[in-house]
Amino acid sequence: MADSAPAPVKSRGLEGVVALDTELSYINGQEGELLYRGYDIKDLAKNASFEEVAYLLWNGNLPNQQQLDELTAQLQAERALPNEVLDHLRHHTPKDANSMSALRTATSMLADFDADTESHDREANYRNAIRLTAKMPTIVAAFDRIRKGLEPVAPKGEGSMAYDFLYMLNGEAPGERAEAIMDAALVLHAEHGLNASTFTCRVIGSTLSDMYSAVTGAIGALKGPLHGGANIKVMETLLDIQQSGKTPAAYVREKLDAKEKIMGFGHRVYKTYDPRAIILRDMLEGLSDEKNDRYWYETSRTMMEEVHDAKGLYPNVDFFSASVYYLLGIERDLYTPIFAISRITGWTAHLLEQWEDNRLIRPRAEYVGPRGETVGPIAGR
Ligand code: ACO
Repeated sequence: MADSAPAPVKSRGLEGVVALDTELSYINGQEGELLYRGYDIKDLAKNASFEEVAYLLWNGNLPNQQQLDELTAQLQAERALPNEVLDHLRHHTPKDANSMSALRTATSMLADFDADTESHDREANYRNAIRLTAKMPTIVAAFDRIRKGLEPVAPKGEGSMAYDFLYMLNGEAPGERAEAIMDAALVLHAEHGLNASTFTCRVIGSTLSDMYSAVTGAIGALKGPLHGGANIKVMETLLDIQQSGKTPAAYVREKLDAKEKIMGFGHRVYKTYDPRAIILRDMLEGLSDEKNDRYWYETSRTMMEEVHDAKGLYPNVDFFSASVYYLLGIERDLYTPIFAISRITGWTAHLLEQWEDNRLIRPRAEYVGPRGETVGPIAGR
């Protein structure tokens, strides 16, 4: 009898596989185009706040003033952490813990303090999305202050999330420029199709597990240096170049000759400039001039040209964001957590979308191991 099952498709790393439909973002990897729900990222970065983008991703349309005020107030009201989570960060998180591990564990703990965690109606899921988005910056800031022997700063409960994050991190109100740069960086990182962490999130969500479990898994995926963790590695490379006394071009050539990857370059989908990298590059140039420190910008430009000439690769979102955060005076290992406090909006929007029309995500593996083995007595093994 003929086998009616479709022929299995195999793709290493699932490259080119379309696993589902989404209305959240469109990526044209050949043209370097990125849209969130139809809006060009360049337009959003210039003209929309992170809160407006969060609303757009969760609801499908940009908010009017009243809707924006309501969401901003909800985020402000939800920003404080339960005491138990704060105590965990104070007393049970090692001072030298990996920043993403600390964020992952604290985020996971939040599940037990949210009465809506196990509910699966859309309203409850939407409330969870707001709570997670509100609280993740508080975790990152508290972790950083506690490990430095400082008291965590309670959220101000006013202003944008970018403002409150920088306020909780530094214990003082950020300048308008720093707030605007952080806000734009959050907009740029909010959503990006079925990347590794979002896929992780949807896989976990597809089992009808809860939002906190899915987001905890996504944080774990984002931590990896081939994904969000690359921004920390980029800054390490830039500092290494500075300390080595080598020219950026010679440094890059040496690494490539040794078959090492240069972090912040290459992308599974973009085969040209990542549009977010261009926006961040321009932000870095402006910030460099304001800070009267063009070293990181110039070094990055040279690296970019060298990597392109040698390998035909382009910078991705992690390349220029690293120097932007560096010039804002942010600790290097917080760069990936900052990515997470933005991408939480994309992750949760994908979960809301997944649960609108859920189907278990469950691919297959081709078995390539032996067959016909038999269990012999243990003494003979
Ligand atoms: N430096 C040097 N060579 C590279 C780089 C790089 N950054 N990226 C890819 N290549 C080379 C590979 O060595 C490979 O060469 P080969 O064919 O001669 O063996 C070729 O380009 C294809 O690379 P793959 O790793 O197979 O491409 P893939 O699509 O699997 O990986 C990835 C994409 C993981 C992003 C890769 O480009 C990489 O490791 N980049 C560095 C890490 C990084 O910046 N990650 C952040 C990505 S953006 C984000 O997740 C937010």
